[in-house]
Amino acid sequence: MPVLYLVLESILAYLFVRALRVLIFDVVFQFRRGYKAPSLVRNIFSIVVFAGLFVIIFNQNYKDVKLGALLTTSAIFGVILGLALQDTLGNFFAGISLHADRPFQVGDVISVGLQKHTGVVESISWRAIKIRTFQNHVVLVSNSSAAKEAIEVCPHDNLNARLVYFNTLYSDSPAKAIHIVREAVREADNVSEKIPPIVRIRNLGESGVEYEVKYWLNDYARYNDTDALVRQRIWYAFRRAGLTFSFPTRTVEIERKSKQVGADPDHGALIERLSAVDIFAPLTAEETATLAQASVRHVFAPSETVIRAGDEGSSMFVLHNGRVQVQVTENSQARAIAVLNEGDFFGEMALFTGEPRTANVVALEETEVLEIGHEAMKRLFDTNPDLVESLSHIIAERRQGLADRAGGQSDQADESEGILASIKRFFRLT
Ligand code: CMP
Repeated sequence: MPVLYLVLESILAYLFVRALRVLIFDVVFQFRRGYKAPSLVRNIFSIVVFAGLFVIIFNQNYKDVKLGALLTTSAIFGVILGLALQDTLGNFFAGISLHADRPFQVGDVISVGLQKHTGVVESISWRAIKIRTFQNHVVLVSNSSAAKEAIEVCPHDNLNARLVYFNTLYSDSPAKAIHIVREAVREADNVSEKIPPIVRIRNLGESGVEYEVKYWLNDYARYNDTDALVRQRIWYAFRRAGLTFSFPTRTVEIERKSKQVGADPDHGALIERLSAVDIFAPLTAEETATLAQASVRHVFAPSETVIRAGDEGSSMFVLHNGRVQVQVTENSQARAIAVLNEGDFFGEMALFTGEPRTANVVALEETEVLEIGHEAMKRLFDTNPDLVESLSHIIAERRQGLADRAGGQSDQADESEGILASIKRFFRLT
């Protein structure tokens, strides 16, 4: 009969423990903490309460049997139990420490173990962490081995980032590639709007310029699809912008020693650009073509300095594409005094007077300039004496701008005469 009572009362105790568990964890805990209690904590609670109740029930039905003494005095029983439960207890305590630290939660993406098992955490039990991989497989990592390994956690309520790589030919402009890719990626699905994507050069590789895009995801668990979408967007953006992906190539270049007129495919565009510059308007078509031939093209990145104040300078520049800012330094701070656009020129002051550069000239965007040297200008002065005069007026005007800025005074007409004389001296013109 006591056995029957023991069984019946144990069943009642079990039902009581279940009810108590629902009340405490599904109602009170959820209400107070705002999230579901971990299953491990629920199980430990059930086991402890049920064990306590069982001991009480057992003692009432078998008053003369000392259950505590029976368990503690049996050394063999203890050894067997200890050995049998070695792994289980290891998992159990590792599970407790995982729950206490709370390094990750259900729904987070984690990467664990030497094999880098990666997936979304589905549950954390008293024995193992259950991960659903991106191939929809289930991986169980025992708590004790997880506790020994490094775990990479990407919390689901965190803005996690990804890196996607691409490359371009060396002839493609980095400023353009960076702009095009950033705009293409920021609109892709699942790319967070909170932080704009970052595109940067990671290496100047063997076959091309290598870039990385860093972007942040709304839902990190979908990173495979989003990486693929980002790559697709880059491909289409490249197609529209005329950019080209690089691949291993070998280019054999045959250098021709004597430069032919018109060898530059853009020679016509250079002539057009130079003839639109007002100081070169009096030149004949032939002189303009010769000047285009003698000029050298350079490209500057946004924010790069083309001319540094105080440097020696023996060339001037015509702005072919882009914009530059002329800056002077006041109280150790750069102050803009002019912005020059396509067709404008700069750097003439040092070239024609032999004095150091008067200001900094900085590219505001990707900028292409045509550099014209001392020799080319001298040839022009010999055949176009009027050119010297119109240049001296422009230099005087710009000097006036610099003097106004510095709070000084100067007479522009006298200044212009002085500059004319100094250009003639410097270029040994009669
Ligand atoms: P240079 O002195 O050789 O180098 C700096 C250049 O900045 C200068 O020649 C001019 O071409 C340009 N510069 C200086 N002052 C002005 C100004 N007030 N407006 C426009 N350009 C200027």
